[in-house]
Amino acid sequence: MSLDAYRIETEPFFHAVGNEIAQFEAAHADRLPMMLKGPTGCGKTRFIEHMAWRLGKPLVTVSCHEDMTASDLVGRYLLEAEGTVWQDGPLTRAVREGAICYLDEIVEARQDTTVVIHSLTDDRRILPLEKKGELVTAHPDFHLVISYNPGYQSVLKDLKESTKQRFCAIDFTYPDAATEAAIVARESGVDAATAAILIRIAARSRNLKGSGLDEGASTRMVINAGKLMARGVTLGEACRIALVQPITDDPDIRDALSNAIAACA
Ligand SMILES: Nc1ncnc2c1ncn2[C@@H]1O[C@H](COP(=O)(O)OP(=O)(O)OP(=O)(O)O)[C@@H](O)[C@H]1O
Ligand SMILES: [Mg+2]
Repeated sequence: MSLDAYRIETEPFFHAVGNEIAQFEAAHADRLPMMLKGPTGCGKTRFIEHMAWRLGKPLVTVSCHEDMTASDLVGRYLLEAEGTVWQDGPLTRAVREGAICYLDEIVEARQDTTVVIHSLTDDRRILPLEKKGELVTAHPDFHLVISYNPGYQSVLKDLKESTKQRFCAIDFTYPDAATEAAIVARESGVDAATAAILIRIAARSRNLKGSGLDEGASTRMVINAGKLMARGVTLGEACRIALVQPITDDPDIRDALSNAIAACA
């Protein structure tokens, strides 16, 4: 059983915004559990893919959700012709073989699922497979990384203090306008001037956060608008279908955003 399929062969493009690469490398050297915090579409997944490539480690990603059980992470017995066989879950594979394990949106998982990472994220670095009666000691290369969108969850859904306090955290936000425009131009294929216009529109949308919008347009959405424009869609139409219609149905907010598009175009 090899995790070679989880190795990233070609460099994922990542434009650093601050010192995040050096910070992550320092944390990785001691395998300090790491939390990547920030709103949707701001580069957390791209960052961990880049870091896994840079560090030459396989990357096992698990998207967490509320129906996820500890068995989905750790493993379970499966019924086969020869009887029951144990199958390691993705976390267990990463622990045994020394991968970076990225638990995406960890707060979505129930707290009884989240606690399985506790013994892995203190100096014991062990994973108990209770159903199998096995204690797996983590491979020296195993590194646990989680993502967390601050602000979206209710108090009920937040991480336990005893979970949070096991992690270091790097904050991700939308980069400054010039950096974000460079990212958008590179990822979508539009020219620098067009990318700059799209970023100005996104900035207006981000200013509406809290007054009608839960979140402004993310870098991901701006890239989508750029991709449409690179295919010949006009600025107005591209912004409408990539930046406005997905995030609001409120006619007043849609109007406000349309005005912003017209003003920036
Ligand atoms: N710093 C960056 N360098 C390169 N590309 C970036 C950067 N930030 C964002 N992107 C682009 O934005 C897209 C969305 O980023 P990504 O998928 O990493 O967001 P995320 O923070 O993981 O969002 P979510 O919380 O929704 O999972 C990426 O596919 C990439 O094209
Ligand atoms: Mg992501």
